[in-house]
Amino acid sequence: MENSQPSALGAHASPQAVRTRPLNAVIGAEILGVDLRDDFSRETFEVIRDAWRENCIILVRGQTLDELAQVKFAQRFGELGKVLHTHEGRASLPGVMYISNIRENGKLIGALPDGEMYFHSDQCYIENPSVGTMLYAMEVPSKGGDTIFANMFAAYDALPDELKQKIEGRAALNVYDYQNAATVRGSEPREGIPSFAHSMVKTHPFTGRKSLYFNRLMTHHIVGMEAAESEALLERLFDHQEQDRFIYRHVWKPGDLIMWDNRSALHARSDFDASERRLMRRTVVVKEH
Ligand code: OGA
Ligand code: MN
Repeated sequence: MENSQPSALGAHASPQAVRTRPLNAVIGAEILGVDLRDDFSRETFEVIRDAWRENCIILVRGQTLDELAQVKFAQRFGELGKVLHTHEGRASLPGVMYISNIRENGKLIGALPDGEMYFHSDQCYIENPSVGTMLYAMEVPSKGGDTIFANMFAAYDALPDELKQKIEGRAALNVYDYQNAATVRGSEPREGIPSFAHSMVKTHPFTGRKSLYFNRLMTHHIVGMEAAESEALLERLFDHQEQDRFIYRHVWKPGDLIMWDNRSALHARSDFDASERRLMRRTVVVKEH
């Protein structure tokens, strides 16, 4: 690859060149001055990684990445998640999957094809969820299909004491029925459907900050609480998490790459016209180095 070797002459990114700036006052950092195809220094990588850990999401615009370049960048963070190749329409490297509504030869080439998707944290229904998810935009609809991110450090900090006390020391059962409720609330725990009870407040291993770890799409009930009480409390908590003051909404352009931290951010997707094409390339980091 033309730009993969750092050298005094050819390096696109030096530690001097990489810069970050906030996406808004509450969540996210944009990374500037890097070409993610480059084999940049450890120092440069740490600027990017720390921005991701501290700001919940990072955005890098204007990238030109093939599968291998995206995989190599993702691997700098850690071990990549295995992908279940349920979508045969498009061959891909291990660790790569597509989020898309495009059909080739009558078959969907990606997962999560259509429409709005409620707030969630990826894989919160298993014991060890992926820590980070990376989406690279390849084709985007003319409007809608935005991804919306909410800062759960800030949501925890702002939670009224009365609610903090109610969830203190509590766990909630997260469930995901990919076949029947992939994008909206409605997964019910049953045989063959993955579920896991996670503590409702998590402490981030690197920043030490507490975050709210439950969500409208996948959290079914609070463990050890009567059903009606659990449901009423969860409704209040979801409404709290999803307030505009914790949110950044990303309107995608091809070439944008966003990586979010599943420990501290929730994400959702806005609706879009099913007749328009949307294609995102996805890689996930399951364990940091
Ligand atoms: C995901 C996801 C949202 C989107 O890939 O985990 O939730 O905007 N994607 O496609
Ligand atoms: Mn997701």
